Amino acid sequence: MKIYFAPLEGITGYIFRNAYNEIYGNVDKFFSPFVAPSESSPLTPKERRDLSPENNHGINLVPQILTCRSDHFIEAAKEMQSMGYREVNLNLGCPSGTVCAKGKGAGFLEDTSALQSFLFDIYSFSGSEGMKISIKTRLGYEQPDEFFSLLDIFNEFPVSELIVHPRIRSDFYKGEPRREYFTHALSHAKCPVVYNGNIFTCKDYEDLADALGSLPDPVMLGRGLVSDPSLADKLRGDTSETDMLKFRKLHDTLYHEYQKVMAPDINVLHKMRELWSYWKVLFEGRQENERDFKRLLKAKKYAEYEAVAYRILEG
Ligand SMILES: Cc1cc2nc3c(=O)[nH]c(=O)nc-3n(C[C@H](O)[C@H](O)[C@H](O)COP(=O)(O)O)c2cc1C
Repeated sequence: MKIYFAPLEGITGYIFRNAYNEIYGNVDKFFSPFVAPSESSPLTPKERRDLSPENNHGINLVPQILTCRSDHFIEAAKEMQSMGYREVNLNLGCPSGTVCAKGKGAGFLEDTSALQSFLFDIYSFSGSEGMKISIKTRLGYEQPDEFFSLLDIFNEFPVSELIVHPRIRSDFYKGEPRREYFTHALSHAKCPVVYNGNIFTCKDYEDLADALGSLPDPVMLGRGLVSDPSLADKLRGDTSETDMLKFRKLHDTLYHEYQKVMAPDINVLHKMRELWSYWKVLFEGRQENERDFKRLLKAKKYAEYEAVAYRILEG
C-alpha cells in the first residue's frame, strides 16, 4: 500500500518533513506546500529553501505549483528540474478566496477552456523535458457534476497521477467527502488516481474501502496524519508500544528545530500551538489536559510552554 503525505501549507515544510521522515519514515511520497510563482521570480527565497535538496535528504518529495499562467508554471518547473526534481504537481484545489479570485487553485476549475490551453502548454513542456506532472484537484468550483467534464479534459493529457479531493470549492475542508464521485474517477480516469480526504483513523479507511468496493491505493493523508503521526503505521498494520516514544521524539525534534530557524519565542510557540490544535485529539478525555491545553495557548515564553507541554506528554 502506498501512502502519500498531503501538502499542508504552514505545517508540512522541510523541518516537519525531515522530522517525520526520520522518526516514522513510512510515507512513500511527500508533496510540498504550494509555491506560487510570480512575474518577478519563479520561487521566493523561502520556497527555494523549502525545496532545496540539502534540506530534503532521503525524502521523496514532489514540489507543488499554484498558478493559472502556463509560462509561470514552466519557469517554476524548470527551476525544480534544475534542483533534481522529476515530477511536479499542479494545485487545482486551493479554496482560499484570494487564490480563487485570481483564477488559481479551485478557482481555475471554473474556466475550463483556459484550463485546457494551460494543460496543453504545460504537458507540451513536460513531454519535451521528460518531466512528470501530476494534478491535485477538487471535483469542481460550484457543482460536483463539473467533475465529469473536468475528468474528460484531464484524460486528454498524460497526467502522471490524479489526486482527487472529492469536494467542491465551497465545501472548503468541511462535511463528508463526496466519495461517489471518486468511484467515477476510478472507473473513467486514464491515469492512476489517488484518494484524498478525511481519513483520520483505520476505520475511516475501511469505511472508504467498503464504499468504493476496493482498497484505495495509493491514498493521500493530510490532517489525519498530522493529528496521529502513527496513522500510516496503523494502516499498514504495523503498530507497537513505541508509539508514544516516537510521538515525544517528533515533538522534541520539531520544537528544537524550529528554535534554530525562528525567533523570538512567540513565533516558535505559534508554530507549536498550530501543531497542538491537531495533536490535541491524542490526549483528549483527561480533565487536567483540558486545562493544560488552555495554558498552552497562552504560553509566551519557552519555560511556560515546556512546563505545560511536558506535563501533557508525560501524562
Ligand atoms: C492548513 C492546510 C493547508 C493546506 N495546504 C495545501 C497546499 O499547500 N496544497 C494543497 O494542494 N492542499 C493543501 N491543503 C489541502 C490538503 O492537502 C488536503 O487536500 C486536505 O486537508 C484534505 O485532506 P485530509 O482530510 O486528509 O486533511 C491544505 C489543507 C489545510 C487544512
